[in-house]
Amino acid sequence: MQEMLRVEDLWVSVDERQILKGVNLSINYGEVLVLFGPNGAGKTSFIMTLMGFPKYVVEQGRIYFKGEDITNKDVYERAQLGMGVSFQRPPTVRGVTLRKIIEIISDGRINKEGFVEYAERLNLSGHLDRGLNDGFSGGEIKRSELLQLMVQRPDMVLIDEPESGVDLENITLVGEAINMLLGKDKVKDPKRSAIIITHTGYILDYVNADKGYIIFEGKLICGGDPRDILSEIKRHGYRGCAECR
Ligand SMILES: Nc1ncnc2c1ncn2[C@@H]1O[C@H](COP(=O)(O)OP(=O)(O)O)[C@@H](O)[C@H]1O
Ligand SMILES: [Mg+2]
Repeated sequence: MQEMLRVEDLWVSVDERQILKGVNLSINYGEVLVLFGPNGAGKTSFIMTLMGFPKYVVEQGRIYFKGEDITNKDVYERAQLGMGVSFQRPPTVRGVTLRKIIEIISDGRINKEGFVEYAERLNLSGHLDRGLNDGFSGGEIKRSELLQLMVQRPDMVLIDEPESGVDLENITLVGEAINMLLGKDKVKDPKRSAIIITHTGYILDYVNADKGYIIFEGKLICGGDPRDILSEIKRHGYRGCAECR
């Protein structure tokens, strides 16, 4: 299997605070990786760094995407190369409708009928003409993020806590949306890869992940089968997992 993303000895600071402390990771085409970790471990910082948000300063290390060194590339360049992100807490943008955002980011890759169908499947057709995330519930925000990724069609999706703020009924819908996005419901985009951050692990009931890691105090530890990792976390806690490695 060919490698899509390679992270080598990544050290990252935010506002002069060291957050990531030597992260190494490799993801192949089509591979789905789950990242677990306690609050404040650096999960969000990690994917924000991969996407290239300037607040996250790479002190040391390199990021390669599809064989290209992207460590110093801008967010838009990484998006053009095929990386996309679903935020943990996306902003509300009044005055810009969800429909407008979709038209812009889909950039002709999908026609109107196509995205209306996606919106229907995500139960968001009534939201297309509202301001982006304006008054959306937790579940609606997550679905709106996933809808935007569907029309953007990135090759690697970075999904930050898809289940946070989502009630149990909506988790099913979010899980189905992620499977749709990953093409796991059909054999459509078998090469699309993903990093999915989860705090609770609920998403594993819906999404078939290949590999998991715990991120603890800025380092990746305990790589393995995601379900085994989750049960170890439940038994020993994050610190216990960090100590036994
Ligand atoms: N802008 C910032 N300034 C200072 N510290 C920050 C900033 N953003 C995040 N951090 C800190 O970085 C650490 C990791 O945060 P984050 O990546 O959001 O963790 P997680 O997503 O795992 O909960 C936390 O201790 C957080 O307080
Ligand atoms: Mg986070």
